[in-house]
Amino acid sequence: MADDPLAAIIGDLYPYGDKTTTYRSVPAEPVDRAAILAEIAGMAQVEDERGDKGTVSGSLYCGDHDHYHFLGRVFDLYSHANVLQRDMYPSATKFEGEIIAMTSELLHGTGVGVVTGGGSESLITALYSYREQARARGVTRPNVVKPVTAHVALDKGAHWMGIEMRHAPLAADYRADVAAMADLVDDQTIAVIGSAANYAHGLIDPIEEIAALAQSRGIGMHVDGCLGGWLLPWVERLGYELPLWDFRVPGVTSISADTHKYGYGLKGSSVLLYRDKALRKHQYFTFPDWPGGLYISPGFAGSRSGGILASTWAALLATGESGYLAAADGIMKTATAIRDGIRGGIPELEVIGDPVFLIAFKAAGDLDIYLVNDALIAQGWRMNPLQLPPALHFCITRPNTAPGVAEAFLEALHGAVAYATEHKGEPAKSGAVYGFGGTPQGNALVEMVMVQVLDAMHEVAPEHSS
Ligand SMILES: Cc1ncc(COP(=O)(O)O)c(C=O)c1O
Repeated sequence: MADDPLAAIIGDLYPYGDKTTTYRSVPAEPVDRAAILAEIAGMAQVEDERGDKGTVSGSLYCGDHDHYHFLGRVFDLYSHANVLQRDMYPSATKFEGEIIAMTSELLHGTGVGVVTGGGSESLITALYSYREQARARGVTRPNVVKPVTAHVALDKGAHWMGIEMRHAPLAADYRADVAAMADLVDDQTIAVIGSAANYAHGLIDPIEEIAALAQSRGIGMHVDGCLGGWLLPWVERLGYELPLWDFRVPGVTSISADTHKYGYGLKGSSVLLYRDKALRKHQYFTFPDWPGGLYISPGFAGSRSGGILASTWAALLATGESGYLAAADGIMKTATAIRDGIRGGIPELEVIGDPVFLIAFKAAGDLDIYLVNDALIAQGWRMNPLQLPPALHFCITRPNTAPGVAEAFLEALHGAVAYATEHKGEPAKSGAVYGFGGTPQGNALVEMVMVQVLDAMHEVAPEHSS
């Protein structure tokens, strides 16, 4: 197994293969509800234990199980409701409108937006709006210019919609190189992108400069605030110095901000804000000539669960300003301790750029960072591995703010660096797939592996899977 990384990765997808019944067809008779609940509870308990220890980067933004239970109760009241049917569920209009209003107020917007099913949907929907806006002015070969670090969901959306995605390199500080972006903009460019903050390194791009570029070329600018949108405003209110990145910047025409990340809502919600209704209108779809009726749809989804809207709304209310500020305070203290601990105490590592709440670090010399990751994994830590350049990041969330976590992490990191130094030259286990990146042959192999893993994620456990 260990000699075949693909078999190992796929094997890890099915830990329950021989511990539970694998259903390959609908059971002939109903399974007892108590038994179903017990089986799910067993899996949930094991899987939550890891995240609850505070040793996981990102992933769990809130970590408070009372909060989750409360949101679950709210979800329960509307889980079955289809918010398309506003005559039946006018509460959906209240929830959705108020989620948009609260997000917009936080980001100094104009109150115009939509709620989507997540960050990727917000980003892809924004691309669609810009494509339609540009089509109206005669753009036929649309392209978008983004720094390489802007989220890959944009590449997915561009791929789906026949938009060319142009990747600008980074400046020496790892933020977007605006001059390089300017060189890539032409008369078919429909929008430029910046992140606040980006997934890879947690850095805020020079939004004011990118927005000025957009304005000078008469195009829109989307800021991907999926990750930082519900955190950075509180960090700023706490007195930390941050560059402007939201609608206070002229030229920013849309922003995505995920309520299911630092908004502490349940998974499945994000807000896409627009500076004006004219841009939002491009994502609306109306079809008056369908036998099924006059069709109006604001975005990608058809039926949507009222449970997501209700529980997202409830999450914002139940956390409140003081809750968000307290959470941001803890996150910033932990992130600062880790950033400074690496910078001041581990010369073998280099913190990438000047991060706020997500700390990315790479080897300062010839250390294999994936060997560092191997040792961290062995000690129960789960970082996000990066490539180009090889690095790891720790996205600080509330579970990581528990007393002692930052100190324990720095100690583990010291040990992991010692391990990587001692095992220099040996192949790393955790970085095997990422290690292929960079050469054309390697990428072809990686893509083949990725497709096989995606296939495996949509199949039942193979016989004798563990
Ligand atoms: C900066 C950024 N943008 C977009 C996304 C995509 O969000 P989602 O996973 O909700 O689709 C992420 C996810 O981590 C992100 O960090």
